[in-house]
Amino acid sequence: MDPFDYYCPTRVVFGPDRIVALSELIPRERRVLMVYGGGSIKRNGVYDAVLSTLARHTVVEFGGIQPNPEYETCLAAVEQLRAESCDFILAVGGGSVLDACKFIAAAARYDGTAWDLLEDNSLTADALPVGAVLTLPATGSEMNPNAVISRAEIEQKRALIHPLLYPQFSILDPTTTLSLPERQTANGIVDAFVHTTEQYITRMVDAPLQDRQAEAILLTLIEQAPKVMADPSDLSARSNIMWAATNALNGLISCGTPQDWATHQIGHELTALYHLDHARTLAVVQPGVWEHCFAAKREKLAHYAWRVWGCDGMGTDAAARAAIARTEEFYHSLGIGTTLADHDIPAAACDRIAARLGERGVALGEDGAITGAVAGEILRLRIGGD
Ligand code: NZQ
Ligand code: ZN
Repeated sequence: MDPFDYYCPTRVVFGPDRIVALSELIPRERRVLMVYGGGSIKRNGVYDAVLSTLARHTVVEFGGIQPNPEYETCLAAVEQLRAESCDFILAVGGGSVLDACKFIAAAARYDGTAWDLLEDNSLTADALPVGAVLTLPATGSEMNPNAVISRAEIEQKRALIHPLLYPQFSILDPTTTLSLPERQTANGIVDAFVHTTEQYITRMVDAPLQDRQAEAILLTLIEQAPKVMADPSDLSARSNIMWAATNALNGLISCGTPQDWATHQIGHELTALYHLDHARTLAVVQPGVWEHCFAAKREKLAHYAWRVWGCDGMGTDAAARAAIARTEEFYHSLGIGTTLADHDIPAAACDRIAARLGERGVALGEDGAITGAVAGEILRLRIGGD
C-alpha cells in the first residue's frame, strides 16, 4: 500500500425527513444562495421542504442548472450571489447542481477568468461554504471535492478538484429519490459502479481492506439494482443505493492504491461532443478500456470475477473475460446500451476524440499508458452496430 492522506470534512446527515436539519446546519446570520436544477425539486416537494425549514433564514434562489452544468449558467449564479451578498451556497439536486455550486463557490472568490480554475486546479485559493441536499445518488459529489463543468461554446467538459470544495454537510434523504425517472435511477447505479471499478480494477496490490470495501459496494449495487428497477417505490433499495453511491467516490476505497479513471476521461469527451448522459458514456467506454488493457488488468479482472461475480473454478483468463461480459450484461439489465451505435454516436467519434485528447497530451489510466491515439483504439472496439 502506498502512503496516503485521507481527509473528508463533510458531515453526512442520512435518512428520511432529515431536511429539517438544515435550519441548524446553516448559521442564521448567513445569506443563503439556494441553487437548483430544472424544476424536479418543485414537483417532488423538496423545494417546499427546504424553504419551510429555512423560513427564518435569508434565502435567495437561483434555478436552472442544467445536467452537465454549463459554465455560463454558473457565471450567472456568481453574478447573482455577488449582487445579493450571499455568503453560503445551498445545493439542492443531483450531481450537476452540487458540482455547479462548488464551482460557483470557488469562482465567487476568484478575481481572474473563472475558466482558468478548470484548466489549473491550483489557482483555487479560497471558496465559499457549500452545503447540499442530494436528490440523485450517482456522483459522490456530496462527499468529495470534485466539480465537473461543461462549456458548450468550446465543447469542453473539465474537472476542478480542490480540498476547499468538500461540502460542509450533505443531507441524504432517500425519500427524495423516489421521484427519479428510471433513466436517472439506472444512470446513477452505473456511475457509482464505474466509480468503484475505476479505483479497483487496476492491478493486484496488497490492500485487502480497500479491495473488500470496493467489492462490498459492487455487490450491494448488483443486489439492490434489480429491486429498485422492479419497484421504484422500494425505499430500502433506494436507501442502500444512495449510501453505496456516496461510498463509491468519497476517497476511502482508493486510499494508498492505484486508480484508473481513463473511462471517465474518455467518457467526458463523448458528453462534450455528443451530449450523451455521463453514466452512459461510461457503459460504452469501460469494456473497451478493459479489453484494450487486458494484459495489465487481467489478474485484477479475474479477482473481481471470483469475488463479485461468483466465477469460482475458472482460470485467470477465462474469469477475466467473464468479468467483462458479466459487467456489460449488468449494464444491459438496467436498459443501458454499451456501444457507440446503441447511442447513435458515429464511428467518426473515435478519431475526433483521439485528436482532442492527443492535443491535450493526456496519459490516462493507472500506468499512464492511454494516450489520445490509444483512446481512439479503445473507442474503435466500441463502435457496435452492424
Ligand atoms: O434538473 P432537475 O430538474 O433537478 O432534474 C434532474 C436532471 O434532469 C433530474 N433529477 C435529479 N434528482 C431528481 C431528478 N428527477 C426527479 N427526481 C429527483 N429526485 O435528473 C437529471 C440528471 O441530474 P444530474 O444532476 O445531471 O445527474 P447526476 O447526479 O448523474 O450528475 C451528473 C453530473 O455529475 C458529473 C457528471 O459529469 C455530470 O456532469 N460527475 C460529477 C462527479 C463528482 N462531482 O465527483 C463525478 C462523476 O464521475 C461525474 O463526472
Ligand atoms: Zn462518474
